[in-house]
Amino acid sequence: MPSEHLLQVENVSKRFRVRGKTLHAVENVSFNLDSGKTLGLVGESGSGKSTLGRVALRLLDADGGRVLFQGHDIGRIPKKQLRELRRDMQVIFQDPQASLNPRMTVGAAIEDAYVIHKIGTKSDRQQRVEDLLQRVGLPPSAANAYPHELSGGQLQRVGIARALTLDPKLIVCDEVISALDVSIQMQVIQLLKELQKERNLGYIFISHNLAVVEYISDEIAVLYLGEVVEHAAAEDLFKKPSHPYTQVLLQSILKVPDPQSETTQALMHIKGEIPSPFSPPPGCTFHPRCPFAQDICRTKKPEPRDIGHGHVVSCHFAE
Ligand SMILES: Nc1ncnc2c1ncn2[C@@H]1O[C@H](COP(=O)(O)OP(=O)(O)O)[C@@H](O)[C@H]1O
Ligand SMILES: [Mg+2]
Repeated sequence: MPSEHLLQVENVSKRFRVRGKTLHAVENVSFNLDSGKTLGLVGESGSGKSTLGRVALRLLDADGGRVLFQGHDIGRIPKKQLRELRRDMQVIFQDPQASLNPRMTVGAAIEDAYVIHKIGTKSDRQQRVEDLLQRVGLPPSAANAYPHELSGGQLQRVGIARALTLDPKLIVCDEVISALDVSIQMQVIQLLKELQKERNLGYIFISHNLAVVEYISDEIAVLYLGEVVEHAAAEDLFKKPSHPYTQVLLQSILKVPDPQSETTQALMHIKGEIPSPFSPPPGCTFHPRCPFAQDICRTKKPEPRDIGHGHVVSCHFAE
């Protein structure tokens, strides 16, 4: 079936019932992702990044909206077909150790996917495991190692190898370098970039750190309380951050265009915690923390607006 995009997320919402109350985790989020491209998803802890990533893979069901993978509505296709599609959609988590069985060798853990899907003979599979280990920069001897014998960086390479076993088309990378030493982070990002190029992979690259997503992302969506407040080409977002929240995030990594400007000075004094996702503020959800909030921000929800070249901002005053 011809499909315009690898992944289309359309008006997706996800809510959780927690002790009789409704928690708004993801609210009306839309984006497209093409093969070979990366969408960076950033926002503070609790902003809905992981939930959105899970809904995109249908590891969680959406409450509203729909997700199309290669044109298929993954919320509606039969279970059997979904199982097939799952091979094309993988996820890598922050803590690869947590998803590895401590009593299973790394080689066996990677081989597992082939065993489950009855792919190849034993020696074929071992060859594939060896090739994958080599590709992610690990020696063949790593196949015989147990997870506790490897460093954090090596374990994340195993996590990447496992995600690649079934030759996927889409990988959700959820905080995959957040737990690594800074010196290792760039190596892992570099590896992910190379793999993307070789295999034409689509990535959703999730991080709470805007600095980290810059290098790998083609586009970036900034999440606040489950909503995308700004979405633009990575370059445009850094050049012209237009939502006050994005400006705060950028300012926190010292990437402000002009640290002396009045805007920056105002943002530096931003206070307050992220509001409760059980009762998001009316109007613009960022208004209680926004140094520029006016009356309209307290009552009227800003619609996403294109301020040029697909740079979309949900702020009454962005221009
Ligand atoms: N399974 C769940 N049950 C209830 N609440 C959840 C669940 N998963 C996530 N949440 C809540 O949804 C919101 C978004 O969480 P999450 O997607 O993990 O954010 P992030 O990945 O950006 O830190 C948070 O308020 C979180 O507490
Ligand atoms: Mg998360």
